Amino acid sequence: MRTISPARKIDGTISVPGDKSIAHRAVLLSLLSEGPISVVNFPESADCQTSLNIVRQLGVEVETIGDRMVLRPPEELTTGSDVVLDCGNSGTTARLLAGIIAGSEAEVTLSGDESLQRRPMKRIIDPLSQMGAEVFSENYRLPMRIRGARLLPFEYRLPVASAQVKSCLLLAGLASGCTTVIREDQLTRDHTELMLQELGEGIEVRYVKPVLVEDPIDPRKRRTEMPEPFKKEITLSGQARLHGGLVDIPGDVSSAAFFFAAAAISGGTVTVERCGLNPTRTGFVEHLKACGCRVTVEERKTVSGEVRGTVTVTGGQLKPRKIHGETTVGLIDEIPIVSVVAAYTPGTTIIRDAAELKVKESDRLTAIAQNLDRMGIKCGVLDDGLAIEGKSEVSGADVRSFGDHRIAMAFAVAALGAVGPSTIDDDRIVDISCPGFFELLDRIHGE
Ligand code: S3P
Repeated sequence: MRTISPARKIDGTISVPGDKSIAHRAVLLSLLSEGPISVVNFPESADCQTSLNIVRQLGVEVETIGDRMVLRPPEELTTGSDVVLDCGNSGTTARLLAGIIAGSEAEVTLSGDESLQRRPMKRIIDPLSQMGAEVFSENYRLPMRIRGARLLPFEYRLPVASAQVKSCLLLAGLASGCTTVIREDQLTRDHTELMLQELGEGIEVRYVKPVLVEDPIDPRKRRTEMPEPFKKEITLSGQARLHGGLVDIPGDVSSAAFFFAAAAISGGTVTVERCGLNPTRTGFVEHLKACGCRVTVEERKTVSGEVRGTVTVTGGQLKPRKIHGETTVGLIDEIPIVSVVAAYTPGTTIIRDAAELKVKESDRLTAIAQNLDRMGIKCGVLDDGLAIEGKSEVSGADVRSFGDHRIAMAFAVAALGAVGPSTIDDDRIVDISCPGFFELLDRIHGE
């Protein structure tokens, strides 16, 4: 348990651990690479260590040379038939690895902790089975046994906006050497595509742009129309290869979000150096701008195919917003901290199209609503989101993490602006994605 007292002032410059999504991909791709993959700024976070331990178990040699971690792929990805791989709390490890194993010659059982065993796997089991994979699971959850098989060329339009599903299927195609076409109606994070382009060849990405057409009612007018029902098409050729190379990981913008939020609710200023700025991940930064904060980016550059920069957020007069559709997808991991900012924003913030939150590390909609209620904030749980009535005075309270790293960090930030101290039941859970979170919070926390 940890007690957090309100901050008089928020101010400081920090850097946050490396991006979790990018780190998982760098490590897991080493299973399919022809040459070594070197990684700079690999985070200590528990989820990423889980992926690292698993690739070691599958034969990847890991060596630290100076500031680099070098991953040397195994000759062949094969296993005995009774290998159990523990994916811990990490949905990304489980889903991406499932794709790799399905298209390889290995046979494994994927297991996970209690939270991961509750998370839905039908979303990958169904399409993998359509590709010809052999996947066995009771009730579409972990544990899940996968026997690698020769997969068939596959085209799939994602029914749920999920980068994990997209990546699982692309990696299955890469492992098996079969052409795989994935279509997305809503753009999800694109780290897999970018990394395959950086470290290999045989992947093409096409964005579908709206076109001007004649208005059928009034031919003098024009209107825009999507020529196809989806927005993006990724084609991985059957000859695609991964030759390896260097992945330099930027700071995790999803971890930086908590510190930016601290600035937003307090009127303070926080700078995060070398922060990831991939446009599919910056939804929260855009959100803060739209709510009235000042955001500046300096030293913007692209390293290892990913944009990064030094980002400064200064809090302002907060205004409520309605978030839905692709905006929600673009800040899917940031909904807990969006909700905390909403608690400090006079007026009603509405969050829709966020039903996915019910199947993350916890049922985040319920977890957020219960903690906000303890802090004296009205929050209605909708079918697919939340309605939050913010005010300028939020009460300190005993809040719960629900075993969920992002819930713990969001409410630690909520405590900074509250009247009176707060406690959090499980503070170590932050290590899942942001080890050192509380030390970083201390650095921006003016007593
Ligand atoms: C992730 C994708 C998202 C996100 C998760 C990490 C990834 O999940 O919530 O924290 O690295 O691909 P979904 O793709 O299931 O929405």
